[in-house]
Amino acid sequence: MPINGQTEIVGIIGDPIHHTKSPVIHNAAFEALGKNCAYVPFHVRPDDVESAIAGIRALGIRGVNVTVPHKQSVIPFLDELSADAREIGAVNTIVNHEGTLIGHNTDAPGFVKSLQDDHQFTCKGKRVSIIGAGGSARAIAIGLKRAGISHLSLINRTKATAAELAQTVADGQFVPDCFEPDSSDAVATLANSDLIVQTTSVGMSPNNQVTPVTDFSWVRSGQLVIDIIYSPETTLFLSTCAKNGAKIGNGAGMLIAQAALAFELFTNTAAPIPVMRKAFYEQ
Ligand code: ATR
Repeated sequence: MPINGQTEIVGIIGDPIHHTKSPVIHNAAFEALGKNCAYVPFHVRPDDVESAIAGIRALGIRGVNVTVPHKQSVIPFLDELSADAREIGAVNTIVNHEGTLIGHNTDAPGFVKSLQDDHQFTCKGKRVSIIGAGGSARAIAIGLKRAGISHLSLINRTKATAAELAQTVADGQFVPDCFEPDSSDAVATLANSDLIVQTTSVGMSPNNQVTPVTDFSWVRSGQLVIDIIYSPETTLFLSTCAKNGAKIGNGAGMLIAQAALAFELFTNTAAPIPVMRKAFYEQ
């Protein structure tokens, strides 16, 4: 659709931003639905976050996605937060409702939706291990807890970081435990998990030959293993798990699902998910 006087702008802010696939995914969806909207990347440096948010209001931008490293630093400049964003403490989608800026987080529900839609995996009552304890692990842990998993283990190089995350996620009977990679406790808990989620950057291109754990004796059929990395498409971690009988999935599912939920927040229209998936893979 040609850009004209009625075109509405949506975008993404991050630093760096040139690698983002979000414009291709969202613009394909706008095109498919005949929406007069354009999705553009904005390179915003950390010192400019406040003025960038003011710019959303001033320019009447309909909404933006937020990526690394701004998911937390945008929060003080927003008017409202959704329950997900508040609990996760991070925002990946800002919607401009006639000048009121509302922060949402579609990473966590996107991850859970992708498990269901792409892998027919239902979270309720399942035992889960997450490798890593950073921002992505936090969103995923909260999403999985909300979706009703029965137990969570956090496996992280720095045990203190995992313990901190465990404390924020803990609630009532739900108390995650924490282990170091390749410890006998980590191996035992991984063997006992229905779902394993790899959230660190270990194995991401161009460092394709490294894995976040070296002991793979725990892998068995009946497990689903997700690596949130999507470049390479199959990390060495995933291919090793697949060789040992587990079902696997990469980060494309989560990326597309979070984009679909953000699209619905921007447009109040059901997202054309197959179109978005095709755009992601064709880029
Ligand atoms: P993100 O927001 O993408 O999750 P992050 O907050 O920087 O990124 O978190 C990175 C996670 O990957 C952390 O859990 C980190 O482990 P530490 O807590 O020990 O720092 C983990 N990680 C990153 N590089 C790693 C490596 N080379 N080996 C093991 N873990 C690593």
